[in-house]
This record gives sequence, structure tokens and C-alpha cells, in this order.
Amino acid sequence: MERGGVVSGGFHQNYILYPSRAAAFTTRLHYPFSSIRNSPSSSLRIRHSPCSISSSFIIHEVSRNRCDAVSSNSYSTDVTEFAEIEIDWDKIDFGFKPTDYMYSMKCSRGGDFSNGQLQPFGNIEVNPSAAVLNYGQGLFEGLKAYRKQDGNILLFRPEENAIRMRNGADRMCMPSPTVQQFVEAVKTTVLANKRWIPPPGKGSLYIRPLLMGTGAVLGLAPAPEYTFLIFVSPVGNYFKEGVAPINLIVENEFHRATPGGTGGVKTIGNYAAVLKAQSIAKAKGYSDVLYLDCVHNRYLEEVSSCNIFIVKDNVISTPEIKGTILPGITRKSIIEVARSLGFKVEERNVTVDELVEADEVFCTGTAVVLSPVGSITYKSQRFSYGEDGFGTVSKQLYTSLTSLQMGLTEDNMNWTVQLS
Ligand code: COI
Repeated sequence: MERGGVVSGGFHQNYILYPSRAAAFTTRLHYPFSSIRNSPSSSLRIRHSPCSISSSFIIHEVSRNRCDAVSSNSYSTDVTEFAEIEIDWDKIDFGFKPTDYMYSMKCSRGGDFSNGQLQPFGNIEVNPSAAVLNYGQGLFEGLKAYRKQDGNILLFRPEENAIRMRNGADRMCMPSPTVQQFVEAVKTTVLANKRWIPPPGKGSLYIRPLLMGTGAVLGLAPAPEYTFLIFVSPVGNYFKEGVAPINLIVENEFHRATPGGTGGVKTIGNYAAVLKAQSIAKAKGYSDVLYLDCVHNRYLEEVSSCNIFIVKDNVISTPEIKGTILPGITRKSIIEVARSLGFKVEERNVTVDELVEADEVFCTGTAVVLSPVGSITYKSQRFSYGEDGFGTVSKQLYTSLTSLQMGLTEDNMNWTVQLS
């Protein structure tokens, strides 16, 4: 796909406004956008289609669906719409969908990140010898933006992701954006892609920050240059089951993490490492895999893409964070929500045997939100939970969490950041 070029004021930039499909509407972007950098505030007007000349952009039609924007200078105000995008919001899944813009910021080894900028979404050029490609020096994050009924947009605890990325960067010998840089970059990217945020209740805009060693290395060493990049995609439910209970299998052979390893940070390699077990499980009809600790093969760790909780006699338990489990932000939020609702929550070693007696089991994650577990198979024995739906406790926690995330409660626990 043809791409490239930073949006800059008043001169030719060879990039595609993507996608641009239906009747004309305009998007108003209130964020630093002069040359779409993190500097003085302005707003950008984009006339999406039909491809035409507007006061802001001259757009040439290059195909039925894409337009080549060649000039941008003046910024003005107009309505913001999420309509006119060819997405059936009632059927949206967790698949990747390209949006209009991504954010990029670079830093050299020992330096600081600076000059972050938006650019049209598209492929990036990476040196084949980049540390991220050769030695996996990379981290990612995941967070979501929700559209409220009143049109405002909410981010859920973005500073937590920033802090987690900084912790991961330390483990992976990488520089990292400051918390403020991270949060500002997220806001900027979300506002630039505002029209892709699903209508209230139909899903969210998944935000994927990446931190990569993009400088070239050959001998094993930290990269000489780093790229922080954010792209976004509108998403619905993570599991194909939707909010229906998922079916897990306990993995006996493969392990996700080892003590002293990188299981506690969101490094890209942790996720490639679970694909084998996940594929085998999926081929057998399971939704995903539940991992055990690699020392005793006895304690619950986490599912490939989310944390795990069990409920027994109204006591909620989850594996403690001890370096081999990802410190999930949804995990942390659920613990806090549960305690505020009066539940006892234990972070401790949870044995696989406790699955036999559990009343409810559920998973949490940014992508997953809170997903009830309907069954877990361990050594060919299947344990079932609930009656084809959420258990009472899981349901209560799900409702409390999602109400907070979507701004449906008065007290937002100071967890949401509003953009408009
Ligand atoms: C998330 O929940 O945001 C994650 O990063 C998990 C990913 C495998 C989708």
C-alpha cells in the first residue's frame, strides 16, 4: 500500500488519506497539529469524500476508496462524525482495521524521545538489522478509548500503561517516553482518529503503543535508535464467543514464562511464545490456554492474553504478581473495584486443584475486558462454571468495570481521562 510523508502545512505531501469512502463530511481535530507535531494547538479539517477541494485539503481521487491529499494548511472547525465508515458496528470483532493516522517518535540510545508527530497510517521502513527484528527488543501496550453518549471520549487509565511501558523498557534496556509524553501521544492519536471510535456501546478504539529498537545491530546489544509508535483500530469483543463464557485448557507442556525472565513485562516475545500452545488448543475447539508455573507445574499463571481470577464462596483470588505474570491494568482495576464493592480479594498462589471447587472463573485484560470462563479442561477432566453465562460475582464486576470505562458512573475513581 502506498504511504509515506508527514502531514505538513501548505506543501505537497505524498500520502493517502485512508479510507475515504462516502459522502462528504468533515472531521475536526483539536490537538497540536501544525505539521501535526506536538506543538501549538490547532485543529485540522479533513474533507473525506467525495475527493474534492476543500479549504483545508486538496484531495485527488486516486481510486474509488482512496484519496491523495496534497496540501494542508488552514485549519477550521466542523462536525465530527463516525459515520460514513464502512463498518457494521453491530458486527465488529477484534480484527485489525486500518485508520487514518499513527503517531511516531524517535530517540537515540542514551537520548530522550522528542518531536513526536502524527503521520498517515501505513507501513513503516525498518532496517533489516533492527534489534526488534533480530533480537526481539520490543514492547507493546494496549488501552482503549470509548465514545460516550454525549460525544466525549474517555481513555481508561492511560498513565498506567505509560508506567508499565517504562518498567518494561528498563527490563529490555530501552529508553521510554515519559508518562506525560506517552499520555499526550495517546490523546493526539485518538483525536486524530476520532471517527473510528465505535458508537457508544458498540465497541472501543483499541490503542496499540509500540516501543521498538529500530536501530541496526549485528552483535547482540541494545539498539542505537528507538521508535515509539502508536496505531489504533476500532474493536469489538476479543473472543469469538463475545461475552459468552470461554472454554480453556490447562497447558501441561508449554510454559509462558520463567522466574527471572520477562513474563512480567509486555515484551513482544512473550506473545509469540504462546502461539504454538494456543494453536493446538484452538484446533481442539478451546478458546485459549491457561498456563501453569514452570517450576511446580501446579500454580495458575495466566491465559495467553489475559489474567485469571477464581471465585469461591464470594472470595476472589488471583495469582500474585511475581515476575512471571503480566501486571494487568484491568486485573488491578478489577481488584480495586471488587474491594470497593466489599469483596475479599486475595493475590496469592492459586493451585490448579482449586479449579475443581471454584464457583466462578473469569479472565481480565484490556482486550478481553472481563470474560467469564465456562469450562476448564485439565488432564482430560472438564470443570464447568456458571450456567451458560456470567456468574453472579463476575457479572457484578463486569458491570461495575464497564460502567466506569464508558463513563456511566458519577464517580470515575479518577481512572478516566476525558477528551472531546
Ligand atoms: C491487551 O489485552 O491489550 C493485550 O495486549 C493482549 C493482546 C494479546 C491483545
